Parts: sequence; structure tokens; C-alpha cells
Amino acid sequence: MTNYEDLIAQLSALTEGVPERISNLANAAALLYHTLPDLNWAGFYLLRRGQLWLGPFQGKPACVRIAPGRGVCGTAAVRGESLCVPDVHAFPGHIACDAASASELVVPLRVGGALYGVLDLDSPRPARFTEADRAGLEAFAKALEAALERGE
Ligand code: SME
Repeated sequence: MTNYEDLIAQLSALTEGVPERISNLANAAALLYHTLPDLNWAGFYLLRRGQLWLGPFQGKPACVRIAPGRGVCGTAAVRGESLCVPDVHAFPGHIACDAASASELVVPLRVGGALYGVLDLDSPRPARFTEADRAGLEAFAKALEAALERGE
């Protein structure tokens, strides 16, 4: 089981004093990808000009642009709440970037009181993400938001 307290402490150490948002997002993606077991993708889509654009990530190349309301990422973004999908093939409109993906967790990020983007995690294992993972990753997202607030 992942120790999210420890993961958040590592994120805080990595982002401390770093005013560049892209640098912090890149290290957050690397930290998640290399710490959480059974992931095939970890990264971000960032809201720009009304679309979610591919941001820093680890994993295979992914679709570049997602419309709000589309796929798991776009749905979580519009709802403004995390979305845990145990079986992506059963999710209407799921966007398959990597055929290996079986389950997915998306957590929206808010900066400056507005939607900034989403954190997206994919796993080749069905039902990979538990409620404990959802809670832990929401806390991780909160810590990341605080770092992003301090940067530009
Ligand atoms: N599966 C996502 C698209 C992004 S990739 O998984 C990296 C979705 O349905 O929004």
C-alpha cells in the first residue's frame, strides 16, 4: 500500500523554492510514475484556451488535446471532482491513448480559484485504484496545487 504521507513529503521537498510550474508538474509526474505500482501512464492535461492540452507526463506518447466533457479527463474536469474508473472499457467516451490501460483515476487541479488542469493516472490492472488511493491522490493534488500557486 502506498504511503501517501511520505509521497507528499517527497513532493514538498522537490517543489520547495521552485517557481516554475512546468518543472514542478514534471517532477510530480516522475515521482508518481516511479513510486506507485502498476501504472502505465502518469501525467497532466492543462487547461488552455478552453481545451485540455497534454502536459508533463511519464509513459507512452498520449493524445494531445481533450475537450472538456470528453473522456475520463474531460468529465472529471467539467465535474470538478476526482473520477475513479475501475474499467475504462465500460466508461462511455473513454479515450484510449494506450490499449494497455484498464483502469484510471483523474483528479482536477485548481489554481487561483479556477480549473488549472487534471492529474491523470492509468493502470493496466483493472480496478487498480482504491478509495485510499483516491483520498491519497486528492491530498497529493492539494499539495501540488499549493506549489503551483507559488509559481507561474
Ligand atoms: N484515457 C483518458 C485520456 C488520456 S490518456 O489516458 C493518457 C481519458 O479518457 O480522458
